[in-house]
Amino acid sequence: MSEPTNPEKDVTDAHSPDVPHPTDEAGINLVVQAALAAFAAAVNLDELKAARLAHTGEKAPLSLANREIGRLDKSEKAAAGKLMGASRGRVNKALAERTVVLEAEDAARILVEETVDVTAAPRRRRAGARHPLSTLQDRVSDIFVGMGWEIAEGPEVESEWFNFDALNFAPDHPAREMQDTFFIDPVDSHLLLRTHTSPVQVRSMLEREVPIYVLCPGRVYRTDELDATHTPVFHQFEGLAIDKNLTMADLRGTLEHFARQMFGEDASIRLRPNFFPFTEPSAELDIWHPGAKGGAQWIEWGGCGMVNPNVLRAAGIDPEEYSGFAFGMGVERTLMFRNEVPDMHDMIEGDIRFSEHFGMEI
Ligand code: DAH
Repeated sequence: MSEPTNPEKDVTDAHSPDVPHPTDEAGINLVVQAALAAFAAAVNLDELKAARLAHTGEKAPLSLANREIGRLDKSEKAAAGKLMGASRGRVNKALAERTVVLEAEDAARILVEETVDVTAAPRRRRAGARHPLSTLQDRVSDIFVGMGWEIAEGPEVESEWFNFDALNFAPDHPAREMQDTFFIDPVDSHLLLRTHTSPVQVRSMLEREVPIYVLCPGRVYRTDELDATHTPVFHQFEGLAIDKNLTMADLRGTLEHFARQMFGEDASIRLRPNFFPFTEPSAELDIWHPGAKGGAQWIEWGGCGMVNPNVLRAAGIDPEEYSGFAFGMGVERTLMFRNEVPDMHDMIEGDIRFSEHFGMEI
């Protein structure tokens, strides 16, 4: 059987011409110089590692020469040991020094590469903000839910009957005219975009059992041009209470409580006689707004009254047994004087800076 071949045999051969004799001062010096030159030439820690393995590893000429000391005559050993010790000391010292330099360079490079500029403007995705009209509408709903009322909703595309007839509007009432109401084609469909939230009163009476206490917030439409105080699409909330023995005093007490929740304990209300087809008697509701911009003052807020018996009858409720009160206000108008928004455009343009300004709670 032949000996297994060793491909690196030449390198390990102590007699290879690359490996100086451990007493050959000039030869050893050449090997040391080669190692020092390789360390100096290494420009990063990876290159230094390769140079270290080549010049101080097990198969490096210096290591192989060192190993030869054991085979020397006693007379040569001391000199060879001294020479090799000093040579390996020079190599190790140079390696350590170069390591310190390259490690420092590496640390400095990492510091630069991973620098975080804490003064740089952050790339932040802009979060949305709730529209103050939604927040205000929720706040109104919460106040009534807190009194035990329910929230009711109705369709925005409404039939003429719910929007006008059932609410006791005469057939020739001016509000039905084309200039106020968006009618839906064909005209004989008798459909329209509701002009107020009052039709939800009738829907609620038809759908629910008495007693009824509902608040109906929602979007309404009128053929108004957009300007600082008008918009063709806006919001109202409608209140309706139907029970036995309800009187104008119940209406007044409810609205006063509501006004104080919205405008503070110093707020109060006043009712001025007015006309609406669906309430009798009817009143204009004014609010004493203690925090108004121009100082405390009376501000027109909405309409209200005792539900007209004709409306109760249209909804199948006996006016001899039950009575009710109703009220309706505009959300945009409320936001305008409550939160000092002078121009309607700001509410409908959808600029997030406007909404953000109100925060989460208004
Ligand atoms: N629907 C009326 C409007 O849009 C507001 C209104 C007035 C509602 C009197 C009512 C009420 O419930 O009783 O102008």
